[in-house]
Amino acid sequence: MAFPRIRTAVLAGALALTGPALAQSGFPTHAITLVVPFAAGGPTDVVARALGASMAKTLGQSIVVENRTGAGGTLAPNFVARANADGYTLLIHHNGMATAPALYRKLPYDPLKDFAYVGQVADVPMTVLARKDLPPSDLGGFIKYAREQGSKINLANAGPGAVSQLCGMLLQEAIGTQFTTIPYAGTAPAMSALLGQQVDVLCDQTTQTIPQIKSGNVKFYGVTTLDRIKALPDAPTLQEGGLKGFEVKVWHGIYAPKGTPPAAIDKINAALRAALEDPAFTQRMAELGAEIVPPAKRTPQGLQSWLQAETDKWGAMIRKAGVYAD
Ligand code: MLT
Repeated sequence: MAFPRIRTAVLAGALALTGPALAQSGFPTHAITLVVPFAAGGPTDVVARALGASMAKTLGQSIVVENRTGAGGTLAPNFVARANADGYTLLIHHNGMATAPALYRKLPYDPLKDFAYVGQVADVPMTVLARKDLPPSDLGGFIKYAREQGSKINLANAGPGAVSQLCGMLLQEAIGTQFTTIPYAGTAPAMSALLGQQVDVLCDQTTQTIPQIKSGNVKFYGVTTLDRIKALPDAPTLQEGGLKGFEVKVWHGIYAPKGTPPAAIDKINAALRAALEDPAFTQRMAELGAEIVPPAKRTPQGLQSWLQAETDKWGAMIRKAGVYAD
């Protein structure tokens, strides 16, 4: 299936903000592209655009967000792995970088070998939502309804390798039921389908769902963290609602093609670290339930070792379950 590419300038006119150290060494001399594996307006895109706007202030150049969607978020990393290793093409991706090697037997890139690492960004809880007129009003009622209705319930997600798919898969397993899955090019179109009552259930990140939850546009059954979150203090966790130990947290990393000059990586990393201290970015993330990562994770090494650990963890679980996307 072919999905559209959408290019949008995050921040124009950032030239005036060029820092002296960056100006001296040349890079970057023009706009940088930040590739997002999912649809515009969805949770990864929301983080990418806010982050790009903040990083542009340090880099003195615009960051252009480009949505390259499809194949559960694997088309974008494949594109970036093959892009010029000059620092001008970057990727933002989440847990999908760790799950894809086990889910896809014919993955055309290796997340652990084909990239240079910049650092992690923020961790985001997920939420379990239903269309507004689905009968159950709380998680207990939903679990009962899900067991009774099974495959009559349509579960939207962003394809195999997306965190919405992972969360939905774990939810069905925890409840002991099997829904009918409807994949989209990201959870932005999945959310539109939920709001339009075309699908029944969606597991999605707070970076997209909090505004819908607060406006009462969806049924909301709980958050996927073990503890309640500051952005939705009254919301129960799935664990409180009876799904013991249920936990899914989404993490985000910034990548460049392997071979990108260390001097460029240093500058991009400096801009990332500045963004993670920038109140305009951090406050926006806090409102949307995202937690900025601690300093040790903001480094290339912090991302690389985290990716290795997550690849080992999810790879073992996925292989044991015998689940494949291809
Ligand atoms: C998105 O941005 O659409 C999501 O991160 C997709 C997903 O992984 O569920």
